[in-house]
Amino acid sequence: MSLTLPEVLTLLQRRGQNQYGMEAINQLEHALQCADLAEKAGETPETVVASLLHDLGHLLAAERDGSKEHTTEHDDLHQYIALPFIRNLFPDAVLEPIRMHVDAKRYLCLIDPGYWADLSPASKHSLEQQGGVFSEAEAEAFISQPFATEAVRLRRYDDLAKVPAKVVPDLSHYNAHLQQVALTA
Ligand SMILES: [Fe+2]
Repeated sequence: MSLTLPEVLTLLQRRGQNQYGMEAINQLEHALQCADLAEKAGETPETVVASLLHDLGHLLAAERDGSKEHTTEHDDLHQYIALPFIRNLFPDAVLEPIRMHVDAKRYLCLIDPGYWADLSPASKHSLEQQGGVFSEAEAEAFISQPFATEAVRLRRYDDLAKVPAKVVPDLSHYNAHLQQVALTA
């Protein structure tokens, strides 16, 4: 079940042409914009890699189902799908923000009044499928986990990484980050 680093990159290149949800960009563009925002914000290589790979579960689901487009009719739990495939490849500093990036949205909707209002229609739609806004107790339990603050920052980049035709560095730009944080080749 484990993927190698070259297999992860191939998946991003090959399945990355799939549309990103209901947005006007594809999965690879979304991943590259997210990683670029993380890098420009001065994040660690681990958080930059997490930003690049946070939606890998969508690509793996598409690979499994053979579907060209991610459906928004149900919650595909994509934040969990990728984890068994990359658990041997990356440390928790990469895996945990990926696992928590959907819950980070539920957290932000509670603590930041303007956050929900600024979500795209697609993201508001998926929020309901993902369990809706956290309660105070849920938010407290969430943010006390290791790497939760990184997941919240990743979520901010994720929400901004939906700009059609934005020019950003390509996948090869992240080779050094990937090599640096990978546990195995
Ligand atoms: Fe995303």
